[in-house]
Amino acid sequence: MSFDRSIKIAPSILSADFANFGQEIQAIEAEGCDWVHVDVMDGHFVPNLTFGPPLVKAIRPHIKTVMDVHLMISPVDQYLEAYAEAGADVITSHLEAGPHIHRTLQATRALGAKAGLALNPATRAEEAEYLLDMVDLICVMTVNPGFGGQKFIHSQIDKVKKLRAMIGDRPIHIEIDGGITPETAPLMAAAGADVLVAGSAVFKGGSVQNPAPYGENIRAIRAAATAAQ
Ligand code: DX5
Ligand code: ZN
Repeated sequence: MSFDRSIKIAPSILSADFANFGQEIQAIEAEGCDWVHVDVMDGHFVPNLTFGPPLVKAIRPHIKTVMDVHLMISPVDQYLEAYAEAGADVITSHLEAGPHIHRTLQATRALGAKAGLALNPATRAEEAEYLLDMVDLICVMTVNPGFGGQKFIHSQIDKVKKLRAMIGDRPIHIEIDGGITPETAPLMAAAGADVLVAGSAVFKGGSVQNPAPYGENIRAIRAAATAAQ
């Protein structure tokens, strides 16, 4: 994975057909997505429950781009190795998921994955200050984690601006997760984000049999964000 700040669209397979992940992934990649975002939920840190390591490992061969694994689980440390072995390129853990995020990030890099730090909407940007030299990505949640299809939280624009200033020249991606559409994407691109996760806004109107809308949706988000960057 090389580093750059161009806009990257990362569809969340939380909005895909759960009976057909392989073909859904092939369809979004053929339609031009940059990364594939995999939302792991434990029914404890967040109310919803999704994918364990065997599922993530099973879909890995279908992903030719970047497998971006977002762990919404607590505790997290004892599962890092399984998700790294499943083939995650990026493993993102929540600052709020345990008392030792510093250790979690260290362990993630030691496993050979890029280390991501996710911040819930109520968490201050400053919490990331002493972690900047050990992260490859900061994920700003623009909804409460747990479900797709929620409304974008506008207060997070200011947080992204603060993080962008704190990051300076460091090779750290700013990823936005939740409620991204062609309307909200430019707000975040202008504030300094480069990775845009989108579930419902990418998958709406399309299917494996009719994947063209995936491409239209991806291009609409990318065009709006790139123009604002
Ligand atoms: C929410 C997840 C998101 C979600 C985004 O907890 O982390 O990745 O799938 O879905 P949309 O784009 O529909 O808000
Ligand atoms: Zn996510």
